[in-house]
Amino acid sequence: MNIFSVILAAGEGKRMKSGIAKPLHKICGKPLLGWVLDAANEAGSKRNIVVVGHLGDDVIAEFDGKAEFAWQREQLGTGHALMQGIEPIKNENGTVMVLYGDTPLIGAPTLTDALRAHTEGGFAATVITAVADDPHGYGRIVRENGEISKIVEQKDCTDAQQKICEINSGMYFFDIQKLIFALGQLKNDNAQKEYYATDTIEILLAGGEKVGTYTADFRETLGVNDRIQLAAVGKIKNEQLVHSLMLGGVTVTDPQTLYIGADVRVGRDTVIYPNTVLEGNTEIGENCIIGPGTTLRNSMVGNNTKVENSVVDNGKIGNGTNVGPFAYIRPDSVIGDNIKIGDFVEIKNSTVGDGTKVSHLTYVGDADVGENVNFGCGTVIVNYDGKKKHRSTIGNNVFIGCNTNLVSPVTLSDGAYTAAGSTITGDVPENSLAIARARQTVKEGWAKDKY
Ligand code: UD1
Ligand code: MG
Repeated sequence: MNIFSVILAAGEGKRMKSGIAKPLHKICGKPLLGWVLDAANEAGSKRNIVVVGHLGDDVIAEFDGKAEFAWQREQLGTGHALMQGIEPIKNENGTVMVLYGDTPLIGAPTLTDALRAHTEGGFAATVITAVADDPHGYGRIVRENGEISKIVEQKDCTDAQQKICEINSGMYFFDIQKLIFALGQLKNDNAQKEYYATDTIEILLAGGEKVGTYTADFRETLGVNDRIQLAAVGKIKNEQLVHSLMLGGVTVTDPQTLYIGADVRVGRDTVIYPNTVLEGNTEIGENCIIGPGTTLRNSMVGNNTKVENSVVDNGKIGNGTNVGPFAYIRPDSVIGDNIKIGDFVEIKNSTVGDGTKVSHLTYVGDADVGENVNFGCGTVIVNYDGKKKHRSTIGNNVFIGCNTNLVSPVTLSDGAYTAAGSTITGDVPENSLAIARARQTVKEGWAKDKY
């Protein structure tokens, strides 16, 4: 079957009070429109037409190549938006799903099931409805003898209609050619002087067509009109993502305080402790311990690794490694296997070889560090001369004494040692000890003679 979608996303979204187009606001790291497009694709849509208007250029720029676009320069109502959206597929036969760019919780399983009901019923249109505790602001489904007879907008409702709790989600399935016919009949003689998409239902029924309804979970029909709804919808989406992690074998000790993005993957038997944020393209292996209080952004973590109270941004961490508490792994760092990165350690744009220990109070910036290196407490790689960044190289089995400054660029070859408190400005050859500090002088009895 030929399935298409038209996604309405031209509205101004005034209540967002934003310079960002509403469909581009994000939940769980993905734009609202992205969630809708994914659901449409998963439900089998082969072309998706997004109707753009307010800040439309921004929407097109973001989704270039991922959808087709139709402009609605003036927002004259949802029916008028549909007229623009149907234009690119006006010669097609099949079904068009109508979705909203600000209603991101609609799920592909719901769309698939509603589509099945639409097709089996032989309907010209099927309206996705829901039952709302508070139907204020929604169009109401008016029934006669149990069958839908029309949709009436809140502002056009009689007192009796105001009390109806079955609402129009604004999402529908239409036979494409029958929709085009109905759109041709639309008038704007209503309270808002708009062309209402909802009026197509009455028009089709008057033409002797059959119209069906499909009741969805109200939560899937929630739209975003302001920042409060953005957060509410985001929370539901986050909960869905966290639940699917848990069903996949991940232990989450406090699901309420784990925040995850759409593309996060976590392996079995990993335990995630509270107040953890996993963002972007992040992948965590099996049997890891993540958190509490940890942020991982676009980062990879191997198996059996622990990251506690730390931030990892665009980094890669291997297997059996311990990070934190209180470490900061900055972009482009690759940390190997069986490593210890301890408290108050910052690593930036560096590689760290297997078995190395950077246990406390250390900055490693722009360095290539070998295997089984021991960093003494308080080591600083002095990578910046005020104008330029320089890179240093540290071989395997190097021992760096406490409070060493390594002034880059400098190379410490395999097995080299530095004495505690040294400021190293020259290379240290293999298996050699470099001492670069003032020799100690002792003035005996000095304190006693002072007064
Ligand atoms: C619409 C429905 C209402 C339904 C409600 C569900 C109509 C007339 N009413 O009401 O029955 O209960 O959605 O949320 O259809 N849009 C455009 N161009 C326009 C107008 C709107 O693209 O000219 C887009 C908006 O960006 C938004 C969607 O259509 O994504 C819905 O618009 P909105 O103004 O929120 O519709 P409602 O009046 O709330
Ligand atoms: Mg509205």
